Amino acid sequence: MSRLFSPGPESLPSSGRVQWTSPSNIALIKYWGKRGLQLPMNASLSVTLRHSVSCVTLDFRQVGNGNGGVDFTFEGRDHPVFKKRVVSYLDSIRQWFPFLDRLWLTIDSGNTFPHSAGIASSASFMSALALCICQLEDYWLKEPGDDFFRKASFMARLGSGSASRSVYSPMAAWGKHPAIKDSSDQYAVPVREKIPQTFQNLQDTIAIVDAGTKKVSSSKGHQLMNNHPYAQNRLEQAQSNFQKIMDAIRNNQWDTFASITENEALSLHAMMLSSVPGFSLLKQQTLEIIERVKTFRKEHNAMITFTLDAGPNVHLLYPKEEKETIWPFIQKQIKPLTENNKIIADQMGDGPNGKVFANS
Ligand code: PMV
Repeated sequence: MSRLFSPGPESLPSSGRVQWTSPSNIALIKYWGKRGLQLPMNASLSVTLRHSVSCVTLDFRQVGNGNGGVDFTFEGRDHPVFKKRVVSYLDSIRQWFPFLDRLWLTIDSGNTFPHSAGIASSASFMSALALCICQLEDYWLKEPGDDFFRKASFMARLGSGSASRSVYSPMAAWGKHPAIKDSSDQYAVPVREKIPQTFQNLQDTIAIVDAGTKKVSSSKGHQLMNNHPYAQNRLEQAQSNFQKIMDAIRNNQWDTFASITENEALSLHAMMLSSVPGFSLLKQQTLEIIERVKTFRKEHNAMITFTLDAGPNVHLLYPKEEKETIWPFIQKQIKPLTENNKIIADQMGDGPNGKVFANS
């Protein structure tokens, strides 16, 4: 980790552009509750998505020490709320990137999916931004290696905990857990061991029940874990579920995988309901979708499970081999329950992609 504290880029040109596209991820074992400087109360495990991505384009200009600053647009338009978050994030990581003091950054970001709807747009955005900043430090680096991604994961974590996991594919673990070698609370690690075919090409069809902004932010939700009456039990449950799901994946046990995945999703929302004050992000359609999945699974002996992020949208997970059976069910029974017939057909992805443009 020595590179975490390197002094900055040696030969950054006077201006240039970097761009990173980074995916969202969906947690199987949920991170809910934090301590210290964005450290997780429990270890989490996620699947990295392919199509739900953020693309961050960062133009920089050298402007002399002390004159650094940032312009920010979201999909080409001013967005004061996001800009405020970007400015405070850049301030928070300045100690590791002192060269930011002499750069004017013009940042534009865009998503392939609705933001603030519990599809972890902060994960894809913050990881793409962290990757761009790390790329500035390693401007000439053509093929980023382990150190680069580890640092990006560490930096992404400071922006949004779950963003630390988006840096890796096809699955990532964040938080120290005996089931994953070299796992850490400081950054995520990739889960790249050979896993059975069933889990290699997981499909994630996201039923968008509501694409609007969440009424309670994740940061507020994490905070409510601090005095939560069930916090200790939840942490023990997450610790044990992590081990069980890794065993299920390694031993190709779909039913156990499905039961832990659902237990995690419902426990996350149960923690919200039983917070003080309690709140719910679930909608009537969310519950109806869950019921329909359970009935369909029973009737067709289908390999399908569901999970929820911090929002009402339902992620339907199934192996690629099951697609033929499951797709008609989704079209017929799930789609009508979504907002404007909106479903996103996503799947396990390959992780982020970066580009350095020729100097301008
Ligand atoms: O990364 P944050 O602070 O937005 O928290 C996200 C927490 C969940 O999405 C609900 C669960 C998870 O592990 O992704």
